[in-house]
Amino acid sequence: MVDLIIRNGEVVTTDGTRRADVAIVSGKIAAIGVDLDVRAAESVDATGKLVLPGMIDPHVHMGIPIKDTFSADNFQSGSIAAACGGTTTILDFTVQSAGQSLREALDERILLAQDKSHIDYGIHVNITDQPAQRLGEIEPLIKEGFNSFKAFTTYREAGMMIEWDEFEAVLRQIERGGGFLMLHAEENRLIAADTKRNISAGHTAPIYHPRSRTAEAEAEAVRRAAEITGKIGATLYIVHLSSERGLEAGLAARRKGVNIILETCPQYLLLDESCYLQPNGHWYITTPPMRKSADCEALWQAVANGDIDTIGTDHCPFTIAQKDRYGDTFHLTPNGMPGVEQRFPLLYSYGVRTGRISLEKMVDLLATNVARIFAIDDHKGSLAVGMDADVVVWEPDEEGVISAETQHGNADWSPYEGMRIFGRNELTLLRGQPIVKNGEFIGRNVWGQLLRTKSTL
Ligand code: URP
Ligand code: ZN
Ligand code: ZN
Repeated sequence: MVDLIIRNGEVVTTDGTRRADVAIVSGKIAAIGVDLDVRAAESVDATGKLVLPGMIDPHVHMGIPIKDTFSADNFQSGSIAAACGGTTTILDFTVQSAGQSLREALDERILLAQDKSHIDYGIHVNITDQPAQRLGEIEPLIKEGFNSFKAFTTYREAGMMIEWDEFEAVLRQIERGGGFLMLHAEENRLIAADTKRNISAGHTAPIYHPRSRTAEAEAEAVRRAAEITGKIGATLYIVHLSSERGLEAGLAARRKGVNIILETCPQYLLLDESCYLQPNGHWYITTPPMRKSADCEALWQAVANGDIDTIGTDHCPFTIAQKDRYGDTFHLTPNGMPGVEQRFPLLYSYGVRTGRISLEKMVDLLATNVARIFAIDDHKGSLAVGMDADVVVWEPDEEGVISAETQHGNADWSPYEGMRIFGRNELTLLRGQPIVKNGEFIGRNVWGQLLRTKSTL
């Protein structure tokens, strides 16, 4: 007798897609097979539907302070939006204030997520203030199961940037402990000069965002970071890669043997800098900016040929009121956009259904490989016996349109407004518990759990 059986769906793993039943007991996958001969307390007919692992978003910012405000989703609203888009795990970042220890920052973030997130969550340790005498804080956190760190090579004025010598010291320490560093790679020296020149000339319209934060600034930071990483023999994860030049810099380092992991986001695949010329162009201010359509194409090719390892969202929504506060001035507008709900529908519609990538590749980029990189693949990221029953039943053919009216987070606009999508979230389970049914969130009494990396479980 099993708790739930999902019958006759097209079960997708990175190895292939085959018709099968999925049986669930006590929140875990108990069996996968054709016409399983078991009795079940509950049965779902998935004939003609895709059955996929719950997706994992490696890059979200719930309630992060940016400029003089906070991103509009907290763990509750953001996790509901994520669940409606088939994501059952989010990985967020600590926010370290000046002088605060990494542990305090981590404890604070865990408290924000606990009993608020309706899906499972992990936390990357963001290092924004790490003087040499406190480098010893890093290793104990890795031992406790927090092995992914994060740093910015920009945002100096916001107090979030680490200098290149600090980057090297931090990376050495992380490597020693067995963790890895995620990097927002933009060379601040170039950005500061271009931003100053544009503002002095009175060029503050949204299109000056990409003209102040150039592809070359991204590429230069990737090159510098990769060189140091190679010297140390560490592992570097580049977040939200936005440009062909940045990609080339990452791939050149990889060819030289540097252990470099590359993430991009749907906005860099599907939107280009023409969005900044639209009437509400400042709503699209996110960092790094959207680029030329040739950059989108280069990134799509990299996604298809395996050069890109993961697709996150960098979900960091602001409402229209927050975006409008300083008119359309590019450098005062809070940077970030919503996306956690749309990642899987967009990749399915514009990646799989257009033939750019296979269904299996999509599952790898959005779930299986993310779980492997962040060392939670012993229970997350794929459909196999013994894994958490994080499952999405997806009706593949229903057509819809993305609209702020129907999305679930706190943002009242969408960068993808009006884009046509295929598919509907029929059912999403978190460890066997239904949290979405027929596209609507039903998991208000279901709570996410904090994830730690597998070596310490
Ligand atoms: O503009 C963005 N992406 N805001 C969130 C913080 C970051 O840089 O990832
Ligand atoms: Zn960033
Ligand atoms: Zn981010």
